Amino acid sequence: MAKVMVVTSGKGGVGKTTTTAALGAALAQTGANVAIVDFDVGLRNLDLVMGAERRVVFDLINVIQGDAKLAQALIRDKRIDTLHLLPASQTRDKDALTDEGVAKVIEELRERFDYILCDSPAGIERGATHAMRHADLAVVVTNPEVSSVRDSDRIIGLLDSKTVKAENDERMEKFLLVTRYDPVRAERGEMLKVDDILEILSIPLLAVVPESQDVLKASNLGMPVTVGSPASNAAKAYRNAARRLMGENVAVEIPADRRGLFGKIFARKAA
Ligand SMILES: Nc1ncnc2c1ncn2[C@@H]1O[C@H](COP(=O)(O)OP(=O)(O)O)[C@@H](O)[C@H]1O
Ligand SMILES: [Mg+2]
Repeated sequence: MAKVMVVTSGKGGVGKTTTTAALGAALAQTGANVAIVDFDVGLRNLDLVMGAERRVVFDLINVIQGDAKLAQALIRDKRIDTLHLLPASQTRDKDALTDEGVAKVIEELRERFDYILCDSPAGIERGATHAMRHADLAVVVTNPEVSSVRDSDRIIGLLDSKTVKAENDERMEKFLLVTRYDPVRAERGEMLKVDDILEILSIPLLAVVPESQDVLKASNLGMPVTVGSPASNAAKAYRNAARRLMGENVAVEIPADRRGLFGKIFARKAA
C-alpha cells in the first residue's frame, strides 16, 4: 500500500527541500516507485535541487485545475528510473490549491507510487496544511537551534489536529530529522545537542544529518546529495533514514566531534 509522507518544519530554510530530494532519491534507489511533490507554490525549488527546472512543462496546479493530466506533469528523473517529480507552480495564485484538488491528486498518486513525499512550504498557514493533510507519516525537519525547535513543536501540534489521520482518530507517525548539525558547535554550547532537541520534541529520531559542503555542492549541481556525493556522511545519514522509513531496524548515528577528538589526542601527544 502506498505511503504518503510530508517533509515539514514550520521554519523556512532549515533543509526540507534538500531532505525531500535526498530521501526521495534514497527510497527510489532501492527500486521503490517514488513521487516527490513540491507544495511550495510560488517558490518552486524542488525542481532546481533535482536539476529538472528546464523540464517543467505542467505543475501541480495545472493538474488540480484540469489543464493537464498527472502523467503529463510528472517528470521522471534522468538518473533514477523509479523517481518522479511533480513540480510546483512558480507564478500562480496560492489559492489555486484547493482541499478537493489536493485530495484528488494524492489519491491518484497513491495508485501509481509506493512512496509519495510532499515537500512543505514554510509557515503554519494553508500551504503547510495542504502538504500535510493526507500524510500517513511526517518527517519533521529541525535545525539545532531554539527557534527551529519551537516551530517544529508547533508543526507537531498541527500534525496532530489538522490532518485526515488526526480527524479520524488515527495515529500519525512522526519522526525527527535534525539537519545542519555541527558536533563541534554543539559541544561548545553554540548549538543545541540532539538530546536537548529530543527532550523538547519527544518524537522518535530518524536521522542526524551533518552540516556539510557536500550538500551545497550537490544542490548547486542539481543533484540530491545521495546522488551527487553518495560517499559523504550526509548521504549516508539520508540513506539510513530511508531504510528506517522502509521499516528496517538501523541504528541512528550521531555525528561525533571528530575534530575535538583529534585535538585531544594531539594535545596529549604534545604534552
Ligand atoms: N546538511 C546541510 N549542510 C549544509 N547546507 C545545507 C544542509 N541542508 C540544507 N542546506 C542548505 O540550506 C539551505 C536551505 O535548505 P532548503 O532545503 O532549501 O530549506 P527549506 O526547504 O526548509 O526552506 C540551502 O541553501 C541548502 O543547500
Ligand atoms: Mg523548501
